[in-house]
Amino acid sequence: MKQILAAVSLIVIIISLLVVAFTVRQVDNEDQNLKIDLQHRTTLLAESLKETVEPNFINKSDKYLQQVVERFANKERFAGLAIYDNQDNLVAVTSTLPKEISQSQLVAAHAMDEDKASGDFVKFMDQKMYVFAIPLHDKDSVVGALMVVQNASYIDSRLTEIWRNNLIRLFIQASLLSVATLLILRWIIYVPIISLVETLKAARSGNLSTSAKSYNVPNFLFFSPLVREVTNIRRSLIEARVSASEEARMRLEKLDSPWTAERLKEFVKDTLKGRTIFVVSNREPYIHTKHGGRISYYFPASGMATAIEPIMEACGGMWIAHGSGDADRLVVDLKNKIMVPPDEPKYTLRRVWLTPKEEEGYYYGFANEGIWPLCHIAYTRPIFRKEDWEQYQKVNGKFAKTVLEEIKDFHRPIILVQDYHFALLPRMIKSSRPDATIGFFWHIPWPNAESFSICPWRKELADGVLGSDIIGFHTQLHCNNFIETVGRELESLIDWEQFAITRDRHVTYVKPFPISIAFSNGGEFQNNQGKFDSRQMMRDLDIQVKYVGLGVDRLDYTKGILERLKAIEIFLERYTPYRGQFIFIQLAAPSRSRIKRYQEFAEEVQQEVDRINNKFKTNRWKPILYIPKHHSHEEINKYYKLADLCLVTSLHDGMNLVAKEYIAARDDEKGVLILSQFAGASRELKEALIVNPYDAEQVANSMHVGLQMMKVEQTRRMRKMRESIKSHNIYRWSAELLKTIVNLG
Ligand code: F6P
Repeated sequence: MKQILAAVSLIVIIISLLVVAFTVRQVDNEDQNLKIDLQHRTTLLAESLKETVEPNFINKSDKYLQQVVERFANKERFAGLAIYDNQDNLVAVTSTLPKEISQSQLVAAHAMDEDKASGDFVKFMDQKMYVFAIPLHDKDSVVGALMVVQNASYIDSRLTEIWRNNLIRLFIQASLLSVATLLILRWIIYVPIISLVETLKAARSGNLSTSAKSYNVPNFLFFSPLVREVTNIRRSLIEARVSASEEARMRLEKLDSPWTAERLKEFVKDTLKGRTIFVVSNREPYIHTKHGGRISYYFPASGMATAIEPIMEACGGMWIAHGSGDADRLVVDLKNKIMVPPDEPKYTLRRVWLTPKEEEGYYYGFANEGIWPLCHIAYTRPIFRKEDWEQYQKVNGKFAKTVLEEIKDFHRPIILVQDYHFALLPRMIKSSRPDATIGFFWHIPWPNAESFSICPWRKELADGVLGSDIIGFHTQLHCNNFIETVGRELESLIDWEQFAITRDRHVTYVKPFPISIAFSNGGEFQNNQGKFDSRQMMRDLDIQVKYVGLGVDRLDYTKGILERLKAIEIFLERYTPYRGQFIFIQLAAPSRSRIKRYQEFAEEVQQEVDRINNKFKTNRWKPILYIPKHHSHEEINKYYKLADLCLVTSLHDGMNLVAKEYIAARDDEKGVLILSQFAGASRELKEALIVNPYDAEQVANSMHVGLQMMKVEQTRRMRKMRESIKSHNIYRWSAELLKTIVNLG
């Protein structure tokens, strides 16, 4: 506060000095102008009088001269007139002229001596006067002088007035400016800075009240970049403090406490002993895009990216992925690399560029029209085109080349290949770098051997994957399916006890690693926007209902969205009191929209939403709010917190992380999860209401059960599921995967 007052005083002093300097100058100018004006007018008057008085001056009677001078007696600002002879004797004088002036003939005498007009400002009885004298002639000799006296005190009054006005103005301006400056400094600078300092202090000293534990700092006008930085620093401090204390507690109590980013980091240091991790995936974790000349980035709607990103943040290393954003090339360095996360860099993202033809054949074609429906068995026929297969091979080769380039200086690097886009990659890398340890994680289901056998390139795919040292699936069933496929398609030795496959003297282990999310002490899933206000959110969405159901999916036919909508229709038909009281919000991130089946599916969903809404809607209510657009994790988190029910009705799903995210977001331990028995998550989340998504009646009844469920029962179930995810989070997942990899040798 002292500093603010000092700043304000300084400003006031500077302004006062400026005003005083300006006023001095103004007064000076005005003084000169007024004087010149008065002198000019007086000279004119004296000249004209002289013409009247001068002719035959010596012959003129005193009476005549007195009459002349009296004629001017009452002129404004005119003090008087006097006529002298050349002996300095007063010949005539206006009666108004004070005696002291008429008797002091100095100016007149001077005019006569010098024989030229002369004037001066003098003070008489505290009054400023201008005295002007002009010599009178008779032929060439000076015979007298005419003296004109003007009252000049108005000049001083005017100057005083200028000073007074300027000082009053200065006072008003200085007061207003002081108040304004005080307010601006206090509310725009002082309060935010103090708040930021307090925030950091609290984080540093560990003095955090529960409510203040949210990682976000209040936002202040003009300070966004600083606030962002402080938020990051604060988050790092809090995370460091929390995990340090957890580590300490673990050491002291020797408890198997939850895995955290910090613990994973320590584990990686201890276990990998300097070996670097390289992740390879098709989808990149940060996608840069251009909007009207501005570059921004977003996190994609990808379960794989959501799961792997926290590991990379904790362990560092390099992530090699397809650069698919339209501004991706603009932000990388000459080696196509960029440090990410962009706000708080922790690892390197190495982008690989694909031509439109490659992307078409490898990603849209073979991976997503071929392998995706082949593995999901959601009754969409896989399409296998030779051209797509060729591009798939080519792109796998391109990525293999990039990986080999990046690992060339590393001894025994660890490479974690992600998903069905890169089935050929492990073999390609292994044949050039047998010392590299390759872990492969297949994020989607692996179908039974019979189903898989329809793929014309099934042998090549299975053989490519077997280049890995370890292959992970979400469930044991998918492991078994894979091993059976290999047994059926390839010459190999299968050890069902060890779940190991030997082919050409190379051993590959197959193990389930149920993937998870970054949920350890709860902080990650707290609402980053401060306290969650469900009423405000309902107002923002313009909905007025008692119950909210939620679906969060990519717009994909495997997610069972149409089946879910059917169940909602049955629910509203059967449980009529919920009409007008219940809304179902479906967030749907557009996905793979260049593929015809996905376009058709998007249309089918829209039509079904419209049909059901038209069937039940009233003037004030409609049953489904469909939002087909991408949402950030922060935005989705708010919907999770709002929803009484979350419906995950995948027809087939490797794991489905939405189910886990919903539970992690519910730190209030309320809400009910309805979960498909065909999602890998149903193996772990037993307290969810498990449903067959094809059985719309069952899903509708479960919705009713969920909405009727007592709060204590909701809490009991939520608590159990939260505990389960906490102890089986993504940090534990990666620790187990890495431990297994390292133990391989
Ligand atoms: O495992 C399937 C997966 O790769 C997940 O990461 C994610 O759910 C989805 O597919 C993402 O699809 P895409 O990368 O094609 O948008």
